[in-house]
Amino acid sequence: MKYSLPAFLFASMLSFSSWAQLSVQNLTVENLSNPIGIDKAQPRFSWQLNSDKKSIKQTAYEISVRSGKKLVWSTGKISSENSLRIPYGGANLESDSKYTWQVKVWDNQAKAPALATANFQTALLRHDEWKAQWINSGIEADSVNGIVPHLRKTFEVKKPISSATVFVTSRGLYEASLNGKRVGDAFLTPGWTSYNKHLQYQTYDVTKQLSTGKNAVGVTLGSGWYRTKLAWDNHKNLYGKETALLFQLHITYADGSEDWIVSDNSWKSTASHILFSEIYDGERQDLRKESKGWDLANFDDSKWQNVKIASFATDYLNASVNEPIKKHETFKPVKVLTSPKGETILDFGQNVVGWVKFNISGKAGQMIKLYHVEMLDKHGVPYFENLRSAKAQAHYVLSGEPNQTIEPHFSFFGFRYVKVEGLEGKINPEDFTAVTLYSDMKPLGSFECSNPMVNQLQKNIQWGQKGNFLDVPTDCPQRDERLGWTGDAEVFSRTAAYNFNVNQFFAKWLKDVSADQEPDGAIPFVIPNVLGKVTGAAGWSDAGIIIPYNMYVVYGDKQILQDQYASMKAYLTHVRGLAKNDLWNMGFQFADWLSYRVDDSKSTIGQKSAVTDVYLVAQCFYAYNIELMIKAAKVLQKNEEVADYEALLQRVKKAFQQEFMTASGRLISETQTAYILALQFDMLPESLRQNAVNRLVENIKSYDYHLTTGFLGTPFLNPVLTRYGQNDVAYKLLLQDTYPSWLYPIKSHGATTIWERWDSMKPDSTFQDPGMTSFNHYAYGAVGDWMYRTIAGIDTKEADGAGYKASIIKPELGGGLTFAKGSYLTPYGKIASNWKIEGDILALEVEVPANTESTVYFPTSDISSIKSNGVALTDLKQEGKWISKTFGSGKYAFTMKIK
Ligand code: BGC
Repeated sequence: MKYSLPAFLFASMLSFSSWAQLSVQNLTVENLSNPIGIDKAQPRFSWQLNSDKKSIKQTAYEISVRSGKKLVWSTGKISSENSLRIPYGGANLESDSKYTWQVKVWDNQAKAPALATANFQTALLRHDEWKAQWINSGIEADSVNGIVPHLRKTFEVKKPISSATVFVTSRGLYEASLNGKRVGDAFLTPGWTSYNKHLQYQTYDVTKQLSTGKNAVGVTLGSGWYRTKLAWDNHKNLYGKETALLFQLHITYADGSEDWIVSDNSWKSTASHILFSEIYDGERQDLRKESKGWDLANFDDSKWQNVKIASFATDYLNASVNEPIKKHETFKPVKVLTSPKGETILDFGQNVVGWVKFNISGKAGQMIKLYHVEMLDKHGVPYFENLRSAKAQAHYVLSGEPNQTIEPHFSFFGFRYVKVEGLEGKINPEDFTAVTLYSDMKPLGSFECSNPMVNQLQKNIQWGQKGNFLDVPTDCPQRDERLGWTGDAEVFSRTAAYNFNVNQFFAKWLKDVSADQEPDGAIPFVIPNVLGKVTGAAGWSDAGIIIPYNMYVVYGDKQILQDQYASMKAYLTHVRGLAKNDLWNMGFQFADWLSYRVDDSKSTIGQKSAVTDVYLVAQCFYAYNIELMIKAAKVLQKNEEVADYEALLQRVKKAFQQEFMTASGRLISETQTAYILALQFDMLPESLRQNAVNRLVENIKSYDYHLTTGFLGTPFLNPVLTRYGQNDVAYKLLLQDTYPSWLYPIKSHGATTIWERWDSMKPDSTFQDPGMTSFNHYAYGAVGDWMYRTIAGIDTKEADGAGYKASIIKPELGGGLTFAKGSYLTPYGKIASNWKIEGDILALEVEVPANTESTVYFPTSDISSIKSNGVALTDLKQEGKWISKTFGSGKYAFTMKIK
């Protein structure tokens, strides 16, 4: 039978369309897309499969790496499902070289392989490739709280170039420009590390910024975290007194010859118009002193002085592994307010971290002052007290030049409101912009539900993270602290990892955990450590074990465990050393920091403060640490250590039961946190756990369904209630909106970030103890993890499915929510769970990334009602109250009866 053309076309379309359309996307090297500046000898390649078909599994891949047209490595066709972090295996890579890499992928359905290409550029692969010398301005006044210098050098480019790369870092902060154009778009570079042990340099492709003939490089150096006042007792010059620059420009000419423009004594320096710039106190500029065009080739620097060579080593330098700080969202004032004293205040509507940029045409000598605060008191007066000794101000003396755009360079502020002084005439709010600064983490997760206040809570959690992930995870961004508090970072780490890709952010920070770890294994309370020697404290120092493991579970990257294992083990050994008879009951402990206390706010909820025995808390975290070490050792196949840790774990739990528990399972502290931690870490005999759950729920009822937990109890409160079938109580606590609760700050005070205390502002609109009350502390935002894993129900299996290779979709309905939706960009692609209740029908849409599988748990007891695209589902599994089925990749639409 001969086909007519249209019939044939249709038929081939049909058969063609039956061929799965496979594509490959999101190629990354060392977890970064098209990175410039990789200093790994064996960088690791990852990619994602994408197909409109279901149950896609990769069957093989082939990676090839080229330098220009030259093939430098190829894997050949490898039969494997693995698509993550395949290490380079070819001949040694060259430094400062551009490579393209291609991956060809076969799957179990498509006829033809799919392929994609991406790039990466190497940094300096050996320390001895640094030709540059450390230089500093040599200016007396260039000190902490002193002036900010400009450094510059001119150089000739005599012939056409094919590429030009800058490698740069500093002691202090740098801003570099070439021929007046900024190098890169990162800010507060090189960030904050334990500078004398671990310093990152950045790599920039500046090929397009050079021109034949005379060129100029200019660099401005600020104090930064290197020498600024840090922590509340005015530590200064912590890493050194003199800032310094290390700059190396590698030019490759079209004819193949090379040239290096490096920092050395041929550079010149002068004081800039930035008179002062420190982290806590802000910045002062006198724009009348600005040297216009100072970083252009034809600028006359004859009156400038020669720089000085500084003798610092380069053997602890490494190329940045994490995303730099960049400018992100901007906000215009939503209101112009006038305080009772007649002060002009701009309300930007969101508590952010960054600075204010403004346009102005003022008089020469006119002084504009900006004061940054998070809150106004109930009379509309800016609230400065919680800043403690941090001034958080920006002062600008105008030059009289019309229409100037002004912003700071080397400081940052935590604020929602800005008091403006010195303006003449009516303020035009449009002239002012709040610019947010945070690490350029890739957004990964989204969460929304039918309850607007819970959605606001999610926003506050995300803004808390944006505000405090500024190269290091800070506790707060506004007062004279802003430190890398370990406890806050670990309790929030899973929540953080859902909202943004923080794999590299924490990989870099954990290097400082190792760098600042004490010889006896103790891990400091803040990293980078600026608070001196300590002994380990539960929940805080434990971050050295908890965060590497959490990052492994979420992103599936074993490297972070391999890199940190020695540090993790040294820390556990430290705790074992502190413990007597397997009881960690000595030394300073933060324990359940900032838990509910009756005298805090005249609340009516509860008659008793919720103070949990600090060593009960420590013992639970001792067990938690060991449990994670067992898992980490298993992942890294360190089986001999697994046995040791398993035996230790049993002894530690036994010691807990003997020391803190009565025969009937009552704990010495009748607090929510005591029962939560004992249940979360399986400290109690199986037979006594239900009693403990009952006591926990009774306790919550006795506080009229309010939480009383602090920093360590809060993250596990709802997960424990859900685990033990008390999800309705968990929802009750989530939706509670009077103090103490997650929604109280939103309901009563319009909070736009997470607060340090449950009552940083009290129900009577007075403030908590100004000595320690921040309105931008993400620790209590750790509830996000429960919202994503229980309300949206998106989770990953651990050992045999880390990184969502084997995921779980298990939404738990409740709280009167009629819908919830979550989506997350896993290392394999997007996973999503959207549910909606209509009448007695639940509709559940699920998306599973290619090359993975997901076990979907259906929140119904009516197995026969479960349909997929209207067709009754078969081969369903019943596990206790849960009905489940595992699905391959693809999009699914389920419906089921729920009543
Ligand atoms: C910090 C917290 C930290 C706590 C530990 C506070 O000053 O702001 O983030 O966890 O100290 O004591």
